[in-house]
Amino acid sequence: MERILVIGSSGQIGSELVLALRKTYGSSNVFATDIKNPTEEIRNGGPFQILDVLDYKNLLHFIVRHKITQVYNLAAVLSGNAEKIPLQAWDINMKALMNTLEAARQSDAKKLFWPSSIAVFGPTTPRHNTPQLTVMEPNTVYGISKLAGERWGEYYNNRYDVDIRSVRYPGLISYKTEPGGGTTDYAVEIFFEAIKKGSYECFVKESTALPMMFMDDAIENTIKLMNADSKQLSLRSSYNMAGISFTAEELATAIKKRIPGFTATYKPDFRQAIADSWPASIDDDIAQKDWGLKAEFDLDRICDVMLEKVKEKLEK
Ligand code: SER
Repeated sequence: MERILVIGSSGQIGSELVLALRKTYGSSNVFATDIKNPTEEIRNGGPFQILDVLDYKNLLHFIVRHKITQVYNLAAVLSGNAEKIPLQAWDINMKALMNTLEAARQSDAKKLFWPSSIAVFGPTTPRHNTPQLTVMEPNTVYGISKLAGERWGEYYNNRYDVDIRSVRYPGLISYKTEPGGGTTDYAVEIFFEAIKKGSYECFVKESTALPMMFMDDAIENTIKLMNADSKQLSLRSSYNMAGISFTAEELATAIKKRIPGFTATYKPDFRQAIADSWPASIDDDIAQKDWGLKAEFDLDRICDVMLEKVKEKLEK
């Protein structure tokens, strides 16, 4: 029987992943942890504990005490915030990963999920249909930490048999918990502002295209990767995950179709340079072949669900 620890359960991904895992594995087998308070759904639906992944002793103790078999480590400072505190962000992102790798090596929690990101690519990477193996010269702290993390994950797999699995997430779009401090955050903020104010001032240019994915697709595929037969996995660094690509203007137009008076203006800030250094679209052929990656949500479906759910949320 699997016993699962989720680190970062109060964040954008964690707050939805925990709910999906509890459905599959039973509430009492999924331990949600974070340094921040969780959503009510998470607190009321199963075990939650405040746990700091940077405290190695406590982390290992938790894993052993609760007989954890799998860990999802989602704790990270995102790209925009990391640029404001480079050294601190490097320390946090790397230490969080290294502590879970070491804990996996020293315990029975051998199966580990850790997200990488499209941020591992940089300005010298081919921007369109970016392949799995290509030039990687990230120029953000977040991207450098993700690329280093991929190398360490593969190393722990080779050297210590840690069963690490990872995807390079595109920008993730969700309504339950808003992201914080990322470059792709505009693709979430725009829905909240469209409903609250009928307008949105976007922090990247209208022509900026980035790969994005709806959270339901991200969660489903993440769990699929964790359940894949390890013999099928040709990569232990991190798999490209494409989602769909659209420009900020295409996103605004899709919203305008549904909210006719909606207006978007564009006022690029420091995150424009980050967005410009990332791919506009990704090739995820290897993930499709190895473990059946498949995304269902196109831009129209994302807009329909987001507008309905964000509205419900804001009316509560
Ligand atoms: N969505 C993340 C960010 O913008 C990228 O992984 O930082």
